[in-house]
This record gives sequence, structure tokens and C-alpha cells, in this order.
Amino acid sequence: MTDPDRNLIEQFERDVSTIRDMEQYVSVRDRWLARETGIITTRMKLLRDLPSEERPAFGRAMNELRKHAEERLEAVLEVLKKAAREAAISGSLVDVTRPGFPYPVGCEHPIRRLQQEIEDIFVSMGFRVFDCPEVEREYYNFTALNMPREHPARDAQDTFYFDEPELTLLRTHCSTVQVHAMETMKPPIRAVSTGKVYRRDPFDATHSPMFFQVDVLVVDEGITMGDLKGTLETFLKRIFHPDTRMRLRPGYFPFVEPGAEVDISCIFCFGQGCRICKQTGWIEILGAGMVHPKVLRMSGVDDSRYSGFAWGMGIDRVAILKYGVEDIRLFWENDLRFLRQF
Ligand code: PHE
Repeated sequence: MTDPDRNLIEQFERDVSTIRDMEQYVSVRDRWLARETGIITTRMKLLRDLPSEERPAFGRAMNELRKHAEERLEAVLEVLKKAAREAAISGSLVDVTRPGFPYPVGCEHPIRRLQQEIEDIFVSMGFRVFDCPEVEREYYNFTALNMPREHPARDAQDTFYFDEPELTLLRTHCSTVQVHAMETMKPPIRAVSTGKVYRRDPFDATHSPMFFQVDVLVVDEGITMGDLKGTLETFLKRIFHPDTRMRLRPGYFPFVEPGAEVDISCIFCFGQGCRICKQTGWIEILGAGMVHPKVLRMSGVDDSRYSGFAWGMGIDRVAILKYGVEDIRLFWENDLRFLRQF
């Protein structure tokens, strides 16, 4: 390297050492490295005037200088950026070194999980899951289920109606699946439907104006009460306990004949008798029966050829029993400390 070049490097270093901020950095960089007007480019142009034997050494020296300048400036830029970041952090009111605080994330609702579990059991038995509307026509909720106009179950005291002539309402049960399934499928039918139902009940420890049900419909040739019992028992053993026993008592529902109230052996005392089962050993759990021939006919199923069974059960009630919850309102207060336990 020739002396003037050494001078040049020293000059560059002096220049670089004056850089204190971004503005100074840009001006030093441009003074030395600008494409057309930078010191290095300007010096390179002298190459042409040199005797040819000096040119290679001069060219090499200039290229080294350029490389050195680029690297030095790059390093200076890094230092400036880091300082800027630290200044921004220390000047701000946010202390980024503090540990984070946990943001409360919800969890799957226990009723929803139970609903899913119930659907899965039926799917594994070959049932098709049917979604039925919550806002329903009175025909599906009542008429087609053998509850004509004057039927007491239609009472406005029990049902949320939307309009005067009482044509639309919030469904009071999931038994509407019977009508929807028979209208859309031909036998053999194995349908299950779960979801919210609404009744004008008070909101207290054991009642809620909105709760969940699961309803089941099977229609085929030669379906008997034996099929009902077998399917039901399989289901109850799976949802409660493999040792669960059940019994059928005569019961009345307009859309089944014969109809039955179904009890399970008390899951708390295994039938010995306790406070929950009021010393009887049994807990009433659902309604069931053989689909009424009128209901089959109204939905277009030939009742001389086909028969069917149906049952319906409250999901919240299963939850209360399964988890030993005393007050149904706990499920809807959305207190994560409660909901996370399941
Ligand atoms: N829908 C009835 C209820 O809500 C239950 C039921 C379903 C009874 C099917 C018999 C057959 O109480």
C-alpha cells in the first residue's frame, strides 16, 4: 500500500470515530461509499492516469479499502441500532423484563362435553346425528307428535311462543327429531338429536328455562319393546356405570304407546337406598316408548309395516347425577373455578 493510501485509511478511521448518531452515520457512509461521488469511487478514477505497472497494486489497495470501509460502517450501524433499541426500552413505561401474567383461557363446558360423549356413543352404535332447529314450528313440536291444538302440554304457561296464532315457538323438547328424521329418511332409521330446549320454568337449583336434551328414534320392521330395552340399557351402562341396572314403569307421553318412565339403579348407593334416591334405590332418568302409530303415519311411515321406539333424556340431569352437582345454576354462572373441575 502506498503512503497516500495509508493516509486515506487513517482519514477514514478518523471520520468513522466521529459518528455519534444515524445522521452522522449516513453522511460518513455517503462521503466514502456513494456510487458516483464517494471518495473511493473518485480515487478509483485516477487509475486510468497511472502507468500500467502500478495499476494492479493500486486497484487492489482501493478494493481493500472499500471492503474495509463497508465492514466498518456495517459494524457501526449495528452498534447504533442496538443503542437505539436500548434507549427505547429504558425510556418506556413498559418493563419488558417482567414475567408475563397468565391470561385466563376458557375450557370446554362440561355440558357440551357430555353432549359430545352421548353423541359419540350413539354414533358407535350406528346412529346418525340429526341437528334440529331450536326455533320450531308448532307442527313439529306438538301436532305431528300427537298433541293437537287443545292438548294441555301446549299451554302458553309452559311454552315460549313467538307469535299470536302460536305457529312458531322455542322447542320444548328434542322429540322433534322423530318428525324431522321420518320426513327426511326412509326406514331403517337410527337417529339421535341433542341440543337446547326451552320451558317457562323458574331458574332455581333444580330448574332452568333452558336445558339440554338428547332424543333417540329407531324405526324399522319388527322393532319391539325388547329392542328399546336392549339399546337403552347398553347406553345407560356406558354413560353411567357398567353395573347400572334399569327398570321401566308405565308412563304417559302422547307420542308413544306404550310409554314408559325409566329409572336407573341409584349411582350413589348402588340401589341400597340413600338421600339422593330418597331411600328407594332408584332414580328416574328418562321417558321412553314405542312410537305411536299416529305419529308414524303423520310423518309418512307405513305403520302396518314398520314400528319404532323413542326416548328422551335431560343432559343437564345426567351431569348433575354424574358429577354430584347440587345446584344446576352453577353450570351457567361461568365461574371458571367451577367449570375447570370436570
Ligand atoms: N319428550 C319427552 C320429554 O321431554 C321425553 C320422551 C321422549 C318421552 C321420547 C318418550 C319418548 O319429557
